[in-house]
Amino acid sequence: MGRELKVSSIERGTVIDHIRAGNALKVVRILGIEGSGATVSIVMNVSSGTMGRKDILKVEDRTLSREEVDKIALVAPGATINIIEDFEVVEKHGVELPGEIGTILGCPNEGCVTNSGEPVSPRFTVVGREPVRLRCVYCEEETEDVEENLL
Ligand code: CTP
Ligand code: ZN
Repeated sequence: MGRELKVSSIERGTVIDHIRAGNALKVVRILGIEGSGATVSIVMNVSSGTMGRKDILKVEDRTLSREEVDKIALVAPGATINIIEDFEVVEKHGVELPGEIGTILGCPNEGCVTNSGEPVSPRFTVVGREPVRLRCVYCEEETEDVEENLL
């Protein structure tokens, strides 16, 4: 297996590895890190020993909390989170889908209160994991179409 370094190692921060190829930008969107001021490197479509092709995201100088990171299980269920300090991986774990999803998705039901212009933010309960199935807390509409409904 070739070890090619496409993007520099980072001194400190969080590396999200093993993102299914094509989904890195969705992970960026879910984490809401575009406007955060953090330095972010996005590596797309590199070859991986285990998954053919993959994407990688490197967020410098930020240690993302488990809560922040678990949301990305919606679009990157097999992702690995690496916490980097002094250039070393000091923590490595998978992502786990949380029981509830906050305001990163809109409800697909047009009649839902969350789509009515009222100041009510969408929230979903996770009612199925493989495939992911979400139920709106307000109107009980269920959907498996995560990507379609990302805000
Ligand atoms: N990484 C980085 N900066 C560092 C250390 C690691 O950007 N200072 C990145 C690596 O490029 C890799 C990820 O963090 O994408 C995980 O690093 P490491 O555990 O060293 O790689 P692997 O052993 O290949 O990981 P795994 O076993 O999880 O596949
Ligand atoms: Zn709803």
